[in-house]
This record gives sequence, C-alpha cells and structure tokens, in this order.
Amino acid sequence: MFGSKNKLVGLDIGSKSIKAAEIMESKKGFALTKFGMVDIAPGLIEDGAIKNPEALADTLRTLFKSYGFKNRSVAISIGGYSVIVKKISVQSTTEQQLQDTIHFEAEQYIPFDINDVNLDFQIMGENESNPNQMNVLLVAAKKEMVNDYVNLAELAGLEPRIIDVDAFALQNVFELNYEPNENENIALIDIGASKTSLNILKGRNSVFMRDVSLGCGQINQKIAGLIDCSAEEAEAIKFGESSDKISAEDLSDIISSVVTDWCTEIRRALDFFYSTYPDDQIKKIILSGGGGNIQELRQLLAVETSAEVVTINPFQRFYLDNDKFDTEYLEKIAPQASICMGLATRKVDDK
Ligand SMILES: Nc1ncnc2c1ncn2[C@@H]1O[C@H](COP(=O)(O)OP(=O)(O)OP(=O)(O)O)[C@@H](O)[C@H]1O
Ligand SMILES: [Mg+2]
Repeated sequence: MFGSKNKLVGLDIGSKSIKAAEIMESKKGFALTKFGMVDIAPGLIEDGAIKNPEALADTLRTLFKSYGFKNRSVAISIGGYSVIVKKISVQSTTEQQLQDTIHFEAEQYIPFDINDVNLDFQIMGENESNPNQMNVLLVAAKKEMVNDYVNLAELAGLEPRIIDVDAFALQNVFELNYEPNENENIALIDIGASKTSLNILKGRNSVFMRDVSLGCGQINQKIAGLIDCSAEEAEAIKFGESSDKISAEDLSDIISSVVTDWCTEIRRALDFFYSTYPDDQIKKIILSGGGGNIQELRQLLAVETSAEVVTINPFQRFYLDNDKFDTEYLEKIAPQASICMGLATRKVDDK
C-alpha cells in the first residue's frame, strides 16, 4: 500500500509549530518511521497567511535536516477561512461533465470571487430525496493561499504532491486509528494555536465541516493583555510556570473564559447538525491540536454537549520504536501530531 516510491512525508504547517511524519506499512501493520516538530517564530504565519516565506523555508529545511527526512515529496494541508467544504446537490451527471460545469454550480455557495478559488469535488452518490440529483462534496480554496503554501514548500526544496484540507487529514487519521462504527455520529475538533477545524461525521461521511478563527493563542493574548509580558512569557505562564506578574486566579479566569467561548462556538456547530438530523445524537467528540490537551475544555464540553469527550491518539495503531523515539514526548504532543499523521497516510496517486 505504501510502496516507498509513492510514499509522502506528511507536513503540517501550523501557525505555532510545524510537524512532519513519515510512516511505513508492512505485513505486521503500521509503524512510525520519522517524526519531527519545531516551533516557528511568532508572526511568521498570521490568520493562515504566510508572512515571511524565507524564514519559514529555513525552519522547514532545519526540520527535515535535524530529523533525518530524506524524502522530499510531501503532502501538505490548508485550512481556515480560505477553505470551504460544502455538501451540495446537483443534477445527476458524469464526473467528466461536472468537471466542466462545477464552476457554475459552485458559484452560489462560495463567498469569494469564483475566479479566485481552486475547486475540487467528489461525487458522493444519489441524493436521498431526489433521485435526479446527486450529492457532491465541494471543496473551494483560495488560489492565493494554495499558491503561498506550495511556493513555501518549494522554496524549502520540497515537492508538494498532495494539497489536502486539514479536516480531511484529521478524518483520515481518526478512521485509521479508531475504525469508527457505521452508524456512529462523531465530531472531530482540532483546536490549534490560531484556528479550529470542525468535522462532523455520520459514519464515514462528513456532513458538516467548518473552520473558525479560535485557538490557544487567544489565551496568550489575554495574558499579555492583562500583564506586561513577552510572547514567550505568556506561553510559559499558560503552561503553569509560576509568575509574580499574574495570580493563579486570574490565569484560571482567563482559561475559563476562552474555553467557554470555544464551547459556545462548538455548540453552535452541533446545533446546526441537529437541525438537519433531529433524530441523531453526537455521542462522541474527539479533540486534537494543542487545545486537546486542555483538561478544562474536555470537562466543560462534556457537560455542555452531553457527549463523551476524548483526546485523540494519532499513534494508536502505530508501532513506535523505543530506540528511535522518545515515546514519552510523543505521548505528550500526540494531539498536535494528528494532522501530519493523517497527511502521512496519503499516497502520491490519491485524489
Ligand atoms: N497542555 C496545554 N495547555 C494549553 N495549551 C496548550 C497545551 N499544549 C499545547 N497548547 C497550545 O496549543 C497550541 C499549539 O497547538 P497546535 O500545534 O495544534 O497549533 P498549530 O497547528 O501550530 O496552529 P494552527 O493549526 O492553529 O495554525 C499552542 O498555542 C500551545 O500553547
Ligand atoms: Mg494546526
């Protein structure tokens, strides 16, 4: 399945840290062969936009060199407001024909100028209520954004072979590790430093997908707004380093208020699902990204949604060689590795 010829390095370029992973599949199962993660300097990526490609390319080169990645073919992903994924229904037709008319079909669903986006689609099958129509998963991504990420990878000497969407990569890694039940409804939520990606699955079908600009960086901003401190200090304080500049109570208030905001936003998305599928229940929420580490979020979200809330382990089905990896470290950062692990499962000829 993952012959070395068409193997790809999964590369997740986050606004706080870049993660890369390479995997192997053999008769014995899956194994992680390489993994690396490095922080990027604040401000190099803002709102998903690449602000300083040279500095980022340097970071990418360092990452590949220091963790011994030889393969230069990568699968990358994009997310945030510049990507829109929607289930639409169109007159039944062939894939070839839809290729020609998708621009026209998509126009009404895309809040951007249709000439500014790259479009992709996947036919999902006949529409449940109208046999003359078919369901199509439409993906639109701003060309500028796609080009910026492709150019960045190339500037770093890499060859981007697949451009995926964060939420799809997440779905991939979840399905591979957890083999979900066909009639289960599950919400996958990745909370990074500056964006949150939400994907609600009905069995193996994604029925709702949305990215919003929420993230762990909000906590840092509130800390820095309350006391005079550097970005590094705010991050350290957030991780519990005691500081005489802020009281434990103020810190806990900040975390509570940010986490409460997230829960409201997540509830809103789940309500949208319930308005379409009133008889269904989302019993499980799977968290990933750095936000998946925040215990208070797990607790509050479970209360607010009456769902079981767990944090993903993207390495669950992977053999981790103790001699090669610091498994304790991998365990600690596991939620943040989800998207790059999902990307690493992609192959060159995947659509
Ligand atoms: N235990 C923790 N408690 C609080 N925050 C945490 C914890 N672990 C990680 N984080 C935060 O998670 C964020 C990094 O998560 P992640 O690596 O998923 O972000 P990213 O992919 O770089 O960002 P994005 O996808 O939003 O561009 C940082 O803001 C970090 O401070
Ligand atoms: Mg991320």
